[in-house]
Amino acid sequence: MSQYVDHLQVVQKRFDEALEANGFDSVLIYAGHPRYAFLDDNPYSYRVNPMFKYWIPVTESPKSFIFYRRGETPRVFLYQARDFWHAQPQLPPGEWQEKCDVTLIDNIDQVRAALTDELPHAALISEPLEPLDRWNVKALNPQGLIDHLHYQRANKTAWEMANMRKANLLAARGHEAAKAAFFAGKSELEISHAYYGAMKFRESQAPYNSIIGLNEHAAVLHYDVYETEAPAEHRSFLIDAGAYYNGYCADITRTYAAKPGFFAELVEAVDRAEQEIIALIKPGVQYYDLHVETHRKIAAILHEFGFFKVDANTIYERGYTSAFFPHGLGHYIGLQVHDVGGYLKNPKGESFERDARHPFLRLRREVEEGNVFTIEPGLYVVDQLLEAFDGNEDFNWQRVAELRPFGGVRIEDSVIVTKDGSENITRDAFAALN
Ligand code: GLY
Ligand code: MN
Ligand code: MN
Repeated sequence: MSQYVDHLQVVQKRFDEALEANGFDSVLIYAGHPRYAFLDDNPYSYRVNPMFKYWIPVTESPKSFIFYRRGETPRVFLYQARDFWHAQPQLPPGEWQEKCDVTLIDNIDQVRAALTDELPHAALISEPLEPLDRWNVKALNPQGLIDHLHYQRANKTAWEMANMRKANLLAARGHEAAKAAFFAGKSELEISHAYYGAMKFRESQAPYNSIIGLNEHAAVLHYDVYETEAPAEHRSFLIDAGAYYNGYCADITRTYAAKPGFFAELVEAVDRAEQEIIALIKPGVQYYDLHVETHRKIAAILHEFGFFKVDANTIYERGYTSAFFPHGLGHYIGLQVHDVGGYLKNPKGESFERDARHPFLRLRREVEEGNVFTIEPGLYVVDQLLEAFDGNEDFNWQRVAELRPFGGVRIEDSVIVTKDGSENITRDAFAALN
């Protein structure tokens, strides 16, 4: 059986369970449609409902539907506008067309008419968009059903993993071009063009706005404004940029120093720490513990590089690491870059409490074989966070001032959890290019 057919069977089985547990015979999933800017007739770029592309690798066919009744063949209502203004999207060929009953529509009311008897027993999974919000369904986005499906999505099928390996290959190609543009002295905007050019992507086809920061900008966690002119001096470069393949995401960060020295050594230290954390990954480990262990490693680096007058243990115990490493260690990744279910304890939707010391951690579940998640430690000079420690004598403020012009460091890979360890699909992708 092909990986896709196997995937489709898993998805059907998961929906069978989730629908039954929540009292539904069937589900209707709407792909969504482009939304218009206020008082304007131009749409924002379209992004498909993730629950739709979970079934079939069709990401550019707005106004389409999937209808699935427990135990039966999925039905795809594929929207093809009768419209001479726009080109119709090319449909990805593939087995999904053989494994689903496909009906072409040019008006979504055809779906309502075809399913008149089914809808009162069905759950509808869709943004609450006009006119679907008035359809006579049993429930719109029932939380119990969504939680059940989100919980199951943490374990990826072989087909999903293969797509993410491909997404990483694409993104790694973009990253190599961006790195070359940095060393050629280009501006942030030019580096962004190099990234998308190498992947043959438009910006709207990426899973998130790339973070492309030179020098101090590397400290802005979600920096995406881009200077159009190159700075007088290139000291450092942080790029966090991804790709889609068949609707599945890559999310990669690399940091570069323009020349050898203190910052280059700091990048190497964070890179080493990241790989040491990845070496700890195996089924049964708590992701939370990996996050805490990363704080301990960041404390050790801060000590080693002279940012503090106190030892690494004290740096950690006094909570100083959170000022330099304020975000979580990482997150599930899949159909969404921050994939779902990271706080769900079980399919019933019970969830873990947020930890006040680590409010931005996105993943609390135990590590299981088949999970795919990122590992992304960082170390930055974020002045807004350091203000709270103004005048604190434990800090070596001179050292902090030396790092400030470089912004900071983040290194981010995605890993697949295997039976007794992990596969680093990001580093494998870079290696395959060389
Ligand atoms: N690119 C967003 C993140 O790393 O989570
Ligand atoms: Mn990430
Ligand atoms: Mn990222």
